[in-house]
Amino acid sequence: MTNIKRLGVLTSGGDCAGLNAIIRSVVNSATQKGWEVYGIKNGTDGITENPHAYEILTVDNFSTTPWPRLSGSYLGSLNKGVKMDSLEEMTRRFAQGVKDLNLDAIVVIGGDGSMNIVSNYCKGTDVKVVGIPKTIDNDTPITESSVGFDTACQVCTDAIDSLELTARSHNRALIVEVMGRDAGHLALHSALAGFADVCIIPEISYSIDSIVKKLKEIKATGRNHAIIVVSEGVKTEKGGHISHKENLVGEAVYGGVGEYLSAEINSRYKEFQTRVTTLGHIQRSGHPTASDRLLGSLFGAKAIDLLASGENHKMVVWKNGKVDSFKIDDVVKEGTTLLNVNSDYVKAAEAVGMYIGEVK
Ligand code: F6P
Repeated sequence: MTNIKRLGVLTSGGDCAGLNAIIRSVVNSATQKGWEVYGIKNGTDGITENPHAYEILTVDNFSTTPWPRLSGSYLGSLNKGVKMDSLEEMTRRFAQGVKDLNLDAIVVIGGDGSMNIVSNYCKGTDVKVVGIPKTIDNDTPITESSVGFDTACQVCTDAIDSLELTARSHNRALIVEVMGRDAGHLALHSALAGFADVCIIPEISYSIDSIVKKLKEIKATGRNHAIIVVSEGVKTEKGGHISHKENLVGEAVYGGVGEYLSAEINSRYKEFQTRVTTLGHIQRSGHPTASDRLLGSLFGAKAIDLLASGENHKMVVWKNGKVDSFKIDDVVKEGTTLLNVNSDYVKAAEAVGMYIGEVK
């Protein structure tokens, strides 16, 4: 059992829809146990920076507001990573912060990267930690679903539906560039749901000539427009990533592969004009779907349940149709989950005639 009195909750990494539904579930479940909940502002900065930034969250001041129904993070989040050479200093400041705030446990809502960082920080303290996975990339290991993915798919699918209508009016092949970093889950799920003609993802190699061949086949059927979905992490045919900027720790921020495909396709085939829509951060802030609110509610309740029964360094997961948990260290060891090229999603894409690259 546990002697938790004060719980910290924070969101870390890129935001997504459903974060506030998780926070609501954490606040309500913890309050029922008699714990005081500290909503830590701006990710770990609210603990490591002095003065610390937090707000005490109660059922009345958080859960009865409209916030749980909205996207974004009520607490604010950071998507900047941590430089490895500053890990020791950050761990020291984190330990000092949790001591100042008198925290007994922390719920970290983040991707595997954030969870790894916070779990490492906590190893230097007596504070217990449980993680809840969220990401529009759906690339967190072990869990089959992360909060935020379903809403992002809905945003992309709605965008594809709208673009199809203007593509139809102008005889164009419209290219939709979606997020996802190195994983093609978001691209393929939304391409399938949006009935796209072509979907290019980082996990499967492709050729521009084959995309052009597909467009010619479409034209031969009498259709004058097409939709091509491309994931931001796709490399050029020669093999390089396209990125025009870096984040605060020097990692490449992807973006631009849609324009690359557009230029390459139009230099070989002019029957369809190409245009590019990069969906960008709108993918992170759609109105949270029922599925994301539901998953957030289940995950929040499970996180509190784990802490109450004395568990530590665990991440809540969705596996085989139910909520479960795994050691954070084991999750991190797995590395990012890419799309399985033998999955039913790839098979369905091929079956419906989508060009999805050179599937072996
Ligand atoms: O990991 C979530 C994500 O939205 C990725 O899909 C995207 O590449 C990245 O974050 C964008 O990060 P930023 O918010 O720093 O632009």
